[in-house]
Amino acid sequence: MAIRLLVTGGAGFIGSNFVHHTLAMDAGHTVTVLDALTYAGSVSNLAPVADRITFVHGNITDAALVDQLVGEHDVVVHFAAESHNDNSLSNPRPFVDTNIIGTYTILEAVRRHGNRLHHISTDEVFGDLELDDPAKFTSRTPYNPSSPYSSTKAGSDLLVRAWVRSFGLQATISNCSNNYGPYQHVEKFLPRQITNIIDGVMPKLYGSGQNVRDWIHVDDHNAAVHNIIDKGRTGETYLIGADGETDNKSALEMLLQLMGKPADWYEHVSDRPGHDLRYAIDSSDLRAELGWTPQYTSFEHGLAQTVEWYRANEAWWRPQKDATEARYKTLGR
Ligand code: NAD
Ligand code: TYD
Repeated sequence: MAIRLLVTGGAGFIGSNFVHHTLAMDAGHTVTVLDALTYAGSVSNLAPVADRITFVHGNITDAALVDQLVGEHDVVVHFAAESHNDNSLSNPRPFVDTNIIGTYTILEAVRRHGNRLHHISTDEVFGDLELDDPAKFTSRTPYNPSSPYSSTKAGSDLLVRAWVRSFGLQATISNCSNNYGPYQHVEKFLPRQITNIIDGVMPKLYGSGQNVRDWIHVDDHNAAVHNIIDKGRTGETYLIGADGETDNKSALEMLLQLMGKPADWYEHVSDRPGHDLRYAIDSSDLRAELGWTPQYTSFEHGLAQTVEWYRANEAWWRPQKDATEARYKTLGR
């Protein structure tokens, strides 16, 4: 059935890929993007589909605007967030404003209009795992966030759960692991190193590089989100992951090999304070209940495609690069 989708944060990395994915499905859905165009959002991420969507430049904390837009749509898919841990350590305030107050503003509008909400979140709400722990995160894992970023995302998840229980909101939540793919801001680990290597600058590895992230291609994440919108049970939390556990040093060595550089062509820089050691998702519930499976089964293959995208789209990332590296310089990373 064709639905009217309101996509918050649809000019960012995962949100813009979600818009592309949705239109490629050709299911007759209409798409409105609400995005504040912070440093992390750009209308250029939506340029290929600009004539097929409605774009609204606005803030999710603007209650009147959010109320009007929510009232005009069937389903709200809520991606908008401040999303980068390093930024949350140097300036937490925007994280509280957007991730907590912004989510509250959306919840109140959805409560008034009675429509469906899907809230996008992260596995970082669970804190981290030991390197040798056989356990992975499940929807029963207690919340134990480490950073201002992950704690404000945890807070937003808890708000959604409370609105479901107290007010009967028709909402679902998903917690996904680390995404990679096109349109990811160059502040994040993989695009930062890809663009450094293109520029002839040595990649920067935080600390020892033993930290493990559970990589998933952004398209697999968005396919799962569509499954949850279609078939997910109200009030349920779904964990999305593609069994992509890789330590940072190995991910970097793979990247260097793909880009024709020696495996040791990188430098260690000072570690991130409070740096989470390991994330790992058990997505068996999602797979069993909704029949979702990831299409990108080889991280190396997905990474090679991503490298090609950054090589072919230098005009997209070049304007962000100097300011991003200047910010890292002040942090000594
Ligand atoms: P991003 O930083 O690339 O994009 C965020 C978007 O939200 C930007 O377009 C920005 O302009 C917009 N935005 C920020 N504040 C806003 C506000 N107050 N009002 C309206 N728009 C605002 O982030 P991303 O990596 O695409 O992450 C999207 C969502 O997915 C977030 O909720 C994040 O917590 C979650 N998530 C991300 C990952 C990951 O690996 N990147 C993994 C799991 C979950
Ligand atoms: P990041 O992309 O910031 O995602 P997250 O903090 O949400 O996991 O970082 C991914 C991993 O890469 C994380 O362990 C920190 C590390 N990292 C580096 O080693 N060097 C870098 O330059 C950056 C940005 C991150």
